[in-house]
Amino acid sequence: MPVPFDKQAYWHDRFSTETSFEWLLGSAEFMSIIKPILTSLEPSSARILHIGSGTSDLQNYFRHLGFLDVTNVDYEPLAADRGRQLEKQAFGNVKMKYAVADATQLHLSNDSGGECCKFDLVVDKSTVDAISCGGEDQVLQMASCVKEHLAPGAVWISLSYSASRFDIERLPFDVQVLAKVPTPKSKATDPDIFHWCYLLRPK
Ligand SMILES: C[S@@+](CC[C@H](N)C(=O)[O-])C[C@H]1O[C@@H](n2cnc3c(N)ncnc32)[C@H](O)[C@@H]1O
Repeated sequence: MPVPFDKQAYWHDRFSTETSFEWLLGSAEFMSIIKPILTSLEPSSARILHIGSGTSDLQNYFRHLGFLDVTNVDYEPLAADRGRQLEKQAFGNVKMKYAVADATQLHLSNDSGGECCKFDLVVDKSTVDAISCGGEDQVLQMASCVKEHLAPGAVWISLSYSASRFDIERLPFDVQVLAKVPTPKSKATDPDIFHWCYLLRPK
């Protein structure tokens, strides 16, 4: 039976005991990859959307750099609890935002039913992989929601284990590989396996 990574119930069960875990790459390494993009943003004003935050501490790395306008979204409420706990452990208080929402139906707004919030950077670390378990249409739905939330000139950075994650006709983004990260081998003869950090610009 494949693991149902696209089902909220799976994440709910998992997060009921898991308080901290990093998928694919640790946050420090991920931050070093996206540094060229971060340096173009002003920490005191940039709006960052972190989709599928899970039990990652990535948001803390943004805060360490002075980014406070960070919205962490996950469809599993326990992820928001875990995120707040991780921020409080690191900083003694909670200043970033944590929202419960489905990335494939995302519409974040400041007032009910109002204009969509815009972000200067959207990141997901393997969330697209979980969503892809529901099929290509789900990835397209996510892509369309991300596009709606991008401010002019903003980009989406997505980390995936798949070399073909965004080989999708109708994808409303131009896709570039920002980094191809080799995974550790237990033996020298193991095959080369990479994680892929994509930079997506709206078409
Ligand atoms: C593979 S984990 C990655 C977690 C975290 N980004 C990391 O790097 O450790 C996928 C995350 O995406 C969330 N997720 C899956 N499908 C989602 C959806 N449709 N909307 C919002 N979050 C979703 C899960 O709850 C989980 O936290």
